[in-house]
Amino acid sequence: MKIKNICCIGAGYVGGPTMAVIAQKCPEINVTVVDINENRIAAWNDVDVENIPIYEPGLSKIVEEARGRNLFFSTDIDSAIDKADMIFISVNTPTKTYGIGKGMAADLKYIELCARQIARVAKDDKIVVEKSTLPVRTAQALKDILDNTGNGVNYQILSNPEFLAEGTAVSDLINPDRVLIGGDIDTTEGKEAVQALVDVYAHWVPQKQILTTNVWSSELSKLTANAFLAQRVSSINAMSELCERTGADVNEVAKAVGMDSRIGPKFLKSSVGFGGSCFQKDILNLVYIAKSFGLNEVADYWEQVIIMNDHQKRRFASNIVKTLYNTVSGKKITFLGWAFKKDTNDTRESAAIYVADYLLNEQAEIVVYDPKVKAEQIYADLDYLNTRTEEENRARVTVVNTPYDACKESHAVALLTEWDEFTELNWQQIYDNMLKPAFLFDGRRLLEKRTKEEIGFEFYAIGS
Ligand code: NAD
Ligand code: UDX
Repeated sequence: MKIKNICCIGAGYVGGPTMAVIAQKCPEINVTVVDINENRIAAWNDVDVENIPIYEPGLSKIVEEARGRNLFFSTDIDSAIDKADMIFISVNTPTKTYGIGKGMAADLKYIELCARQIARVAKDDKIVVEKSTLPVRTAQALKDILDNTGNGVNYQILSNPEFLAEGTAVSDLINPDRVLIGGDIDTTEGKEAVQALVDVYAHWVPQKQILTTNVWSSELSKLTANAFLAQRVSSINAMSELCERTGADVNEVAKAVGMDSRIGPKFLKSSVGFGGSCFQKDILNLVYIAKSFGLNEVADYWEQVIIMNDHQKRRFASNIVKTLYNTVSGKKITFLGWAFKKDTNDTRESAAIYVADYLLNEQAEIVVYDPKVKAEQIYADLDYLNTRTEEENRARVTVVNTPYDACKESHAVALLTEWDEFTELNWQQIYDNMLKPAFLFDGRRLLEKRTKEEIGFEFYAIGS
């Protein structure tokens, strides 16, 4: 089975970059990315390719190359579904904010809407690919909906979770550690569908890196991978607090530990806490699934990763208050960085949001500079917490366009995102324009302590 037309429902951080790379690598396949969000689709189609809605290094170039040739962005979901042999579902699966499983389970309403739309529209056989991260056994629900509400056509459901990380999405897609494809490998039709998707990736991914499994293993592997990664960050963050009390340095500990080839060096960077749209959501979902099977010890084990992460964010904020003589009321605190990591404009679950909320509760005035995040996003993130009125958030938080303006006359600077440009700032100039004593809190272990102390800063870094 050769795939000629792909439709991807969901033009977000996964759908957009993934389909751009598929289109670039498979020029003979037509790829149409559809979304209900008209503004997002309009931005993907913007004549100035630098205005596409997602910032990822290298992405605009790929979009420029493929867009209009075999990569299309559209709001006409029905006709893209109708035309496609293979349909990826890349819609959001956020944590539920209501009803059973509120605050833990994944909200699958968008997934179900996609399934019902596909069932309504499809007039010939389709391969439906779960690209979104989903609870184990969601494929069964998709199949039930498609088979019971469809037009009698045949569906094969594949699970093909995405492992890209934001900020490195393009290189992760072009050189993935592995591509995982789960399918109904016990039937001929299932095997053919799996092979069709293998053939798409085989345009650029070596065969030995394309793993095929049954659907349930594939679905669960994605949640497991994210849980393991987040667990490493919480493990090193737990050690960072112990380092601060004992005179050990968390970077030295991480290096020594990471050189054990059984442990490895990656994901051992201590920070103000992990953010992003995936780690917390997926672990909460894992905890919920474990609980729903009565596996309370399994659930408690993984929940601790989140508890530790919340503690780390709170600890960073409370240390600022304590260090500033136990009050930040009316004091100006500068945030360098708002995104949840460098090289992305995504702010979902960013530690900066929670640190800001804590300090605003202590009546601080906050000034933010982030090279890629817009002011409206920063206000939306704070408003979403519902801690205070929208007017108060706008009165107490200012967003500026340069790091130097942000730091002028402030009592303390807190570095929340590890943007490269922060290492190259003129720290002497920043120091000269701050109130004294000038406090600098490095939540990312980005800055060199010695040179900052030589300038005169009171310098605090996580884990030392
Ligand atoms: P996103 O919110 O950026 O994008 C999802 C898009 O789907 C939105 O633009 C939304 O308008 C659209 N959508 C929702 N319902 C729709 C419908 N019925 N029809 C058409 N469009 C619809 O989300 P994302 O970050 O791309 O994540 C998508 C999925 O991929 C999630 O399950 C997530 O867990 C998973 N994932 C994300 C990442 C990541 O780094 N962001 C990495 C791996 C996996
Ligand atoms: C993660 C997974 O890495 C990716 O495989 C999955 O597909 C989606 O979720 P993402 O959230 O985009 O990707 O970024 P990631 O690099 O994993 O960072 C997540 C958070 O952990 C960030 O806030 C980052 O700053 C933090 N982090 C990461 C640390 O604090 N220390 C580390 O050593 C690594």
